[in-house]
Amino acid sequence: MTVVGKAGPAGKPSVAPVDSKGRALRERALAAMEHAYAPYSKFKVGAALQGVDGSVTDACNVENAAFPAGTCAERAAIASAVAKGVRGFSVLVIASSADEPTPPCGMCRQALIEFAPDLEIISVTRSGKEARWRLSELLPQAFSPGSLAHTSE
Ligand code: THU
Repeated sequence: MTVVGKAGPAGKPSVAPVDSKGRALRERALAAMEHAYAPYSKFKVGAALQGVDGSVTDACNVENAAFPAGTCAERAAIASAVAKGVRGFSVLVIASSADEPTPPCGMCRQALIEFAPDLEIISVTRSGKEARWRLSELLPQAFSPGSLAHTSE
């Protein structure tokens, strides 16, 4: 994991450079987070998923009074992107209302690895804290489409 500090003056990162592409994705994730429906956990999450075609799909978590019916922002973003015909992803930015950057949950890691084994994941907070991982680092030895090939009846 790479942790980057709060942004410095004039939006300049104080620790590591942030490219303009990353900045736009970050803004999309932060904006989507504000639309999160999270009355039960009060934990808002936004996701901005960049496709290999350059498209960006954003989503937020949507909770439900029947708790297991709630959905995470990341899996909502995957479903929306796939519905648009995008099946490969290069970067995911996650924004959450937590004080520290949070990694994707286990179920979302599994959902993401189906389409993007080498996904770059950037997690940000409202205050500008940031952490980065590769999905392969967060979910090593994953069960993947290739795993199904080793079956026999
Ligand atoms: N949540 C996400 O949206 N993404 C994650 O990766 C972790 C958790 C949501 C689910 C639930 O609405 C709230 O955050 C608290 O778990």
